[in-house]
Amino acid sequence: MARRIPAMLALALFAGLAWQTAAMAQAGRSKVDIDTRLQQAMADPKLADELYKVGRKVSAVCANCHGDGGNSTKPSVPNLAGQNPAYLLEQVRQFADGRRRYEFMEGMIRAMNSDEKIGMVLFYAAQPVTPKPVADAALQAKGQEIFGKNCFRCHGDMGRGNDQIARIAGQQTDYLRSTLKRYRDGPNTRANSIMTPNTKLLTDADIESLVAYVSSMQ
Ligand code: HEC
Ligand code: HEC
Repeated sequence: MARRIPAMLALALFAGLAWQTAAMAQAGRSKVDIDTRLQQAMADPKLADELYKVGRKVSAVCANCHGDGGNSTKPSVPNLAGQNPAYLLEQVRQFADGRRRYEFMEGMIRAMNSDEKIGMVLFYAAQPVTPKPVADAALQAKGQEIFGKNCFRCHGDMGRGNDQIARIAGQQTDYLRSTLKRYRDGPNTRANSIMTPNTKLLTDADIESLVAYVSSMQ
């Protein structure tokens, strides 16, 4: 019962949007597979442009938490700005099929049609990330050392990830901390993540220094 409330709230938010984007929603509502739709958009700049505009509209619903243009103003909510498209789409898929658990986001994603999903991904991937000031320089240097031993292998020297792997550079502090601890300690809200073995040996102090370094990367 309680699990239905966020979904209903999300539906109510989207009712207004669907009204505004009725014509575009027509295509999305026909349950086009999101991968097929993304391929169509990649091959057709005009369609990509239309979907980007749908995404910009959708982002008004998300801005309350993820910030305008996906630069979150809440340390516990992740930035979406500059995030890699295939990673974002994979998270959408995982929230939808229950591999990634976060009740509110699951409801939100269920309320979106495929054009809104692709549009949102195109919109956020194209937004610039606002750099953050350096926190504690000593802590940051320790974090850089740990990053350079392991994390860079997948997330890249700049922390920007790649087509499949998340950008973590400039990510929000509390989100980084809780995400790393959940990978390490559970409850594992992200099924079969490769991050579980990669956080196993981190101490709380290691995590604090990684948070300081990664959040300040540009
Ligand atoms: C009520 C606040 C709230 C709203 C509104 C919201 N989100 Fe979220 N979102 C969150 C939180 C909190 C998380 C982190 C969940 C976790 O800890 O796993 C998240 C995570 C995400 C992620 C995964 C990011 C990552 O780095 O892995 C995506 C993608 C996302 N949201 C998209 C959206 C979209 C698109 C919308 C608008 C349609 C939206 N969210 C609206 C709070 C919100
Ligand atoms: C073997 C490859 C690999 C290594 C090494 C690795 N990661 Fe990851 N990381 C991933 C992948 C893939 C994801 C995508 C999400 C998932 O599978 O949970 C991810 C996700 C993350 C996330 C969540 C991003 C988001 O937006 O929610 C954070 C934070 C993160 N990694 C930090 C680190 C840190 C810090 C290190 C070093 C201690 C590290 N990773 C090492 C592959 C790796």
